[in-house]
Amino acid sequence: MIDTIKWQSGPAGSAQVLILDQRLLPHDVSYIECSDYHQVVDCIKTLAIRGAPAIGIAAAMGIAIAAHAISADNIKDFTTKLRPAIDALLNSRPTAVNIQWAAERIERLIENNKTLPISAIVELITREGIAILAEDIEINKAIGRFGAEFIKDGDTILTHCNAGALATGGYGTATAPIRTAVAQGKRVSVIADETRPVLQGARLTAWELMQDNIPVTLIPDNAAGELMRRGEIDLCIVGTDRTVRNGDVANKIGTYSVAVLAKENNIPFYVAAPLSSIDFTLPSGEHIPIEERPSDEVTNIFGRCEIAPKGVAVRNIAFDVTPARYITLILTEKGAFKPEDIHLLSPKGKS
Ligand code: MRU
Repeated sequence: MIDTIKWQSGPAGSAQVLILDQRLLPHDVSYIECSDYHQVVDCIKTLAIRGAPAIGIAAAMGIAIAAHAISADNIKDFTTKLRPAIDALLNSRPTAVNIQWAAERIERLIENNKTLPISAIVELITREGIAILAEDIEINKAIGRFGAEFIKDGDTILTHCNAGALATGGYGTATAPIRTAVAQGKRVSVIADETRPVLQGARLTAWELMQDNIPVTLIPDNAAGELMRRGEIDLCIVGTDRTVRNGDVANKIGTYSVAVLAKENNIPFYVAAPLSSIDFTLPSGEHIPIEERPSDEVTNIFGRCEIAPKGVAVRNIAFDVTPARYITLILTEKGAFKPEDIHLLSPKGKS
């Protein structure tokens, strides 16, 4: 499986984050070498790296890159100098909670080790970024083990956007139950929504599943309902950028429509959600910040072709909220939960 993101230590304490440039897929496999946190921020903003867990990992490694560049002889000076990097990464994309989750994890690490020499703290931050990446893959495999229970031999599974290996450290969240079911010998096939406007389904999900010989059929987004009505879809599995206490789920724009269509057609609708994507501090979906992106993503195909009249008004809402009542189960690394029970996973002491 291809690496989405890698840490690379260089000579004399130098460090780099290598980010697979997903804007070039499926045509080119090429890595961006980031030796400055601003480059990591840029990769996140421009979707060179995307997908909630992947941008959480990128944020952690971006903080580590920034930490390497700081010269400070006391902890106060160090944290003051690190602040702009953390803030820039936190502000890079608003909807996925994983960036906040990763930044808070590193801030806790610094606080718990503030009496150590600065060089030791930088080393701990670096190791934390690498650990977050490794853990993410194991978490996804656990989601796969729980989720594969709900997939039968012969099933056809619809997914939306890319919540696959490319959106994570590896293995994917929504694709994890599918990969596990395949490994268990079940014959499954995937329907990938193309996912306008940036085509993560066409460019990324179709590509990564084909790389791994998992049968996949690409459809325009607006074909999902007709396939469901014809009985050609057995279940849906999607990822999430932020799931909140009452089980409402923010995910790529179009997810809500798929969930409503699934309910209308009595098709189970599963959300794969690592704990790093669950925000226990928000009571319900209307509180989730929803990113709006530039209009040219809608009016223009990757800078190559204008498909709308110049100057037309555009709404490019990048995510939507699917209310909990449309969700059959949320698949986490701790097991499968009804959306109304997801708050039971909230760490003690958090409201
Ligand atoms: O805009 P993107 O490509 O970052 O959106 C990604 C999604 O919506 C994914 O479904 C979500 O981040 C889950 S990834 C495991």
